[in-house]
Amino acid sequence: MLDIKVTHPAQGKPLPDPDTLVFGKLFTDHMFLMDYHAGQGWHDARIVPYGPLSLEPSCMVLHYAQEVFEGLKAYRTPEGKVQLFRPLENARRLNSSCERLCIPQIPEEDFLQAVKALVHEDMSWVPHKKGTSLYIRPFIFATDASLGVHASHSYLFAIICSPVGAYYPEGINPVKIYVEDADVRAVRGGTGYTKCGGNYAASIRAGERAEEQGYSQVLWLDGVHRKYIEEVGAMNVLFKVNGTVITPQLTGSVLPGITRKSCLELLRDWGVPVEERLITAQELFDAADAGQLEEAWGSGTAAVVSPIGELAMGDKKVIINHGQIGHLTQRLYDTLTGIQWGTEPDPYGWTVPVE
Ligand code: PLP
Ligand code: COI
Repeated sequence: MLDIKVTHPAQGKPLPDPDTLVFGKLFTDHMFLMDYHAGQGWHDARIVPYGPLSLEPSCMVLHYAQEVFEGLKAYRTPEGKVQLFRPLENARRLNSSCERLCIPQIPEEDFLQAVKALVHEDMSWVPHKKGTSLYIRPFIFATDASLGVHASHSYLFAIICSPVGAYYPEGINPVKIYVEDADVRAVRGGTGYTKCGGNYAASIRAGERAEEQGYSQVLWLDGVHRKYIEEVGAMNVLFKVNGTVITPQLTGSVLPGITRKSCLELLRDWGVPVEERLITAQELFDAADAGQLEEAWGSGTAAVVSPIGELAMGDKKVIINHGQIGHLTQRLYDTLTGIQWGTEPDPYGWTVPVE
């Protein structure tokens, strides 16, 4: 159990207009911080006013990117209560990322306590408007003032929160995705399965190029054969082909998404055939040619369930389900968002209240 000291700002910021919320631009009044030093472990858990951090220019994270992060949300229920969605899954994935990046782990119960304590302090920032939520960004980074390439001996664990609207300006409308055949995001044995900043740094160039062409994000191919699909910039991907839902298996270069896992659990519960396996991009284009690519969607905390209306690779282009959201995609979206926002029962025990 952490002993968390709380300091409040002299004055809170005005709450934003819920109609104008975009993703990740505004931050709440508080942040959580906790230090780590070798020999001392994690210590000095505190909630303080949100504000700039002071770092040495030689701070290790700035040079070698020894850093991991997570993303989860707090949702406002119709009764005005606030709840989290599967936060222990984030705690577990954070620790799996820490293990890969040689960062000291955080006990799951301490992670949950810290998230809950911070959301409790900034409870009024959890927006009420439909489709909005409070995005929670926990992260840990190396703070040694040293240029040697080694694991740092000191770290900062921080959590910040941002009231958000839809991740894509399209909202629930289908997004256009480009299959990236030049850059690769991750290879097996690398850090693809972790949520570390470096993965995202490596992905920016392809994302920028895709955006210039009018696409929302890229669909990555595996780094070895350059033919198996992996995931999208901030989402896992699922396809309904001839009645079966297929999604790339977790080979080590794909992030094990919590929304992906929840989609698969729901689908299996509903009796929909599901396959986690290797899928070539060609297989998807062939299925589309045969009229069997029925639905496609991405899954992620920020993006929830996002229908994919168009998939392009080189000069090939397919429109999926006439560019409309499919029935199964809609059912997953409705069920997941219903559980998250507390408008539907939660038979799986996925939600955790914040008091
Ligand atoms: N893949 C990547 C690269 C992501 O950044 C995310 C977002 O967190 C996901 C997949 C989806 O993961 P989750 O459903 O846990 O948010
Ligand atoms: C999330 O969905 O939580 C993410 O972290 C996506 C983010 C990279 C924007």
